[in-house]
Amino acid sequence: MVLSAASKRVAVTAPAVAARKGSGEPPLVMVTAYDAPSARAVDAAGADMILVGDSVAMVVLGYDDTLQVTIDDMVHHVGAVARSHPAALVVGDLPWLSYHVSRAETVHNAASLVRAGAGAVKLEGGAKRIESVRAILDAEIPVMGHIGLTPQTATALGGYKAQGKTAKSAIQLCEDALALQAVGCFAIVFEAIPSALTGEIMPTMAIPVIGIGAGPSTDGQVLVFHDLLGIREGLGARFVKRYADLLDAMATGVSAFAADVRGRSYPAPEHGYSMPEEELAGLRAALQGS
Ligand code: KIV
Repeated sequence: MVLSAASKRVAVTAPAVAARKGSGEPPLVMVTAYDAPSARAVDAAGADMILVGDSVAMVVLGYDDTLQVTIDDMVHHVGAVARSHPAALVVGDLPWLSYHVSRAETVHNAASLVRAGAGAVKLEGGAKRIESVRAILDAEIPVMGHIGLTPQTATALGGYKAQGKTAKSAIQLCEDALALQAVGCFAIVFEAIPSALTGEIMPTMAIPVIGIGAGPSTDGQVLVFHDLLGIREGLGARFVKRYADLLDAMATGVSAFAADVRGRSYPAPEHGYSMPEEELAGLRAALQGS
């Protein structure tokens, strides 16, 4: 099994991720995780980065969008992931409104993710968010950018749609990518943009680009844990590839437990605790006496 075979790896840092650009090494792997067991699975699989994404809102907490999670929610989940002590770099997602209000609040919120165990933070938006990125970098916290389909702005973008499909919006995305690179992001996520657009931007990128629905030319790929393992109902976005059907496997397991309980075949003797014969005899005598 991957878990038992997991060997001790050298801890991945943000500079180590940045150094992978153009190194000739295989593409970077990033997977989301929101708690200790999922983080252990992702780390044991050898992922380079664990993203504690604000997608936790939908895939774990049952909300309809990412706008509902707060910085406290994210701190809670980053802490759970970090306590599994992964070698993978833990990237904590800054939720909506945690980096939009003031410089002080932005830095304070980024720092709270670092104190919870993140080795870097991620935030959404391009040129418009440069001041927030700069403030966080000034506090010595590595920042990962995120452009294209940015779920925190899905309302403003008119829904969860691929971005950069017109020359004008594609140029804006090129500018956003370059601005994030210039300010000092160590890596950047491109989400749901045409593969051809990614191909045009890639030669200008000196930092690793992690794609999700951005085609094959990026320096790495990210998927949501629950999407790739089939723990979430429905097919999800076009870019999701399912590698397992765990929701079905979980329901099958729980059904087997329910059938055992109803058929009285669980618990079996080996699932119970024994007590010394003489203690049992003493108990029975005491009970009869009373
Ligand atoms: O929150 C998240 O899971 C993300 C990824 C989709 C990149 O931001």
